[in-house]
Amino acid sequence: MLHKILRPTLALTFVLSLFLSIVPLEVRVLAATPEPVRGRHAMVASQHELASKIGIEILKKGGNAVDAAIAVGIALAVVYPEAGNLGGGGFMLIRSKDGSTKAIDYREMAPKAASRDVFVDSKGELIKGEGGSTVGYRASGVPGTLAGFDLAFKKYGSGKIKWRDLVEPARVIAQNGYVLSDRLVRLFISYKETLSKYPESNRIFLRNGNYFKEGDVLRQPELAETLSRISVQGAKEFYTGKTAQLIAADMKANNGLITLDDLKGYVAKERTPLKGSYRGYEIITMPPPSSGGIVMLQVLNMLEGYDVKGMGLNSSAKFHVLAEAMRRSFADRAEYMGDPDFSDVPVNKLIDKRYAEIRRNSIQPDRASSSQDIRFGKLDGSEGMETTHYTVVDKDGNVVTNTYTINDLYGSRVTIKGTGVLMNDEMDDFAARPGRPNLFGLVQGERNKVEGGKRPLSSMTPTIVLRKDGSLWFALGARGGPRIISAVMQTVINVIDHDMNIQQAIDAPRIHQQWLPDEILFEPYSMSPDTLNVMRSFGHKFAERPGYIASATGIMIDKDGVRLGAIDSRSDGVAIGY
Ligand code: GLY
Repeated sequence: MLHKILRPTLALTFVLSLFLSIVPLEVRVLAATPEPVRGRHAMVASQHELASKIGIEILKKGGNAVDAAIAVGIALAVVYPEAGNLGGGGFMLIRSKDGSTKAIDYREMAPKAASRDVFVDSKGELIKGEGGSTVGYRASGVPGTLAGFDLAFKKYGSGKIKWRDLVEPARVIAQNGYVLSDRLVRLFISYKETLSKYPESNRIFLRNGNYFKEGDVLRQPELAETLSRISVQGAKEFYTGKTAQLIAADMKANNGLITLDDLKGYVAKERTPLKGSYRGYEIITMPPPSSGGIVMLQVLNMLEGYDVKGMGLNSSAKFHVLAEAMRRSFADRAEYMGDPDFSDVPVNKLIDKRYAEIRRNSIQPDRASSSQDIRFGKLDGSEGMETTHYTVVDKDGNVVTNTYTINDLYGSRVTIKGTGVLMNDEMDDFAARPGRPNLFGLVQGERNKVEGGKRPLSSMTPTIVLRKDGSLWFALGARGGPRIISAVMQTVINVIDHDMNIQQAIDAPRIHQQWLPDEILFEPYSMSPDTLNVMRSFGHKFAERPGYIASATGIMIDKDGVRLGAIDSRSDGVAIGY
C-alpha cells in the first residue's frame, strides 16, 4: 500500500531530476521492494494501467504478444503523451515460442534535407531552441512507430485479431478522454515553458494556460480522428494519407524539414538480433542503430573476469570495475557506432570476449582511469530523455520487449496541427556537432553525424535473457537516454550475479558512467559515505548530487512458468497478469 502511495511522487521527482538535472526535493526510497505481479498465463508490464489493461484484453481475446504489444504502444500514445507516441520511433525485439528471434527497427530517419551542419549557426555554434535539434519543427526525424507496428503485425501477429481492434481501444480513450493523475498534471506544467511555444501543444496539454488539475479529463479529439483514419486505412495512412499531408503542411509552414516524400519513403527494417552471453546465459538484444546491445555486452564481457557476486551488491570494488568497464564501452560507442546502413559498425569485434579481455586488462584494481586517457579501443583488423519501455509475455511463451520514444519528454514539443500527434526530437540523438555533447551530455563521433535518410544512434536496449536450457528467463528494457544501457545491464547483473527476482533486480541501486563527462552518476541512498570515500580515493569523480538513473520494466518466468511482472519503483506503471 505504502508502495502505491509513494510511487507517483517518486515517479515525478524521478523524471524531473533526470531531465532537468535537478535533485528531487522529496526524494523517498522504498524500504523494501514489492513482490512482482504474478500471472499464470500472460503478463503485460507498461507505464500506464490503461495501456496494460488493453494489452491483457487483446491476449484474452486470442491475440499473441505481438498483437498485444502493438495495442499497448498505440494506447500509450494517448495515455502517456510524454513518451508514448505515433510521432516517434523505437525497437521491438520478439522471441517466438519456437525460439526464433526478430528485431524490428522502426527508428526515425532524418529527413532528406538534413545534413551534417544543419544544427550549427554561421559562427559554428549549435543552434539553441527553435531551429535546433532539441525543440521545434526541425528537431524531428521521420516517425517510424506505425510502420514498425505494421511490419510486426503483418509478419508476426497471430492473425486472429484485426488491425482495427488494436487501434480502436486507444481511439476510444482519445475521444472520450481519461482522468489525469497528479503526476501527469504536474509534468505538463513543468514543461510549460517550451510546450506553450507551440499553439497545438499549448491548447491540448496546457489548456492555453488554464492548466489541468488532478482528476480533470484530457480529451484529444484530433488524435482520435487520426487514429480513426489509421484504424480504417491502416498504418500507411500516416505516411501517405491525410495525416501525412497535415504533417508535411505544418512542417512547411514552420520551416521544418519533413516532406511528404520523406514520409512516403520511411521504411521499418528487420535486423538480426544481437546475441551474446554472460556467465553462460544467452543474452538477446538490439543491434545498431542501437548502441545499447553492444555497450551492454561489452560491459558484461569485461565483468565476466571478476567475481562480481563475491564483491557484493553495492561494494566499492564492484562499482569500481563496473564504472571502469562502462567508461571503456561508452568511449567505443562514441567512436564506432552509428547507423549500420551508413557506416560500418564493427559489431562482432566490439562484442568479442577477447577484445573485452584486452580492455579489462587496462582496468587497475584500485585506481580510476581518466576518460581523457581511455579513448576508444584499438580493434584487431577491419570489419558495427525520454522513452518508454514495455514487455509482454503471452500464454504460449512468445515475448515482445519494446522500447519506443520521442526522445525528450514531449519530444520536440510540437503537436502537428489537426492531428493531435506530438513529434519527436530525435535529431538530437545524432552528433549535431561531432565531438560536442547532446541533450544527455553524450559526446559522439562522425559515424553518427546527421545525414538525410539516416537513423540516429540510440541507446534503447530491449533485451531477452534465456536460461541455460534455452528457455525464456526474463525480458526487459528501460527509459532514460544513455542511462537505459546502465539500467538494463545492471538488472541483468543483479539477476545473474546477485540471485534477485526481476522486481528486486530492477529496484536495486545503480550507477552510470558514460565516458564523458568523466563522472559517475549515483542514486540517492545507494552509496554509503565510506563507499564514496573508497571510490574517491581510487580517483573516481562523482556527479555533484545523486539522482535516479533510468527506469526499467520487465517480466521474468519462474521455474513453474508463472509470469512475474515488474515496474521500476523509480517510476510509474502497472503490470497486469492473468
Ligand atoms: N532517444 C533516446 C535513445 O534512443 O537512446
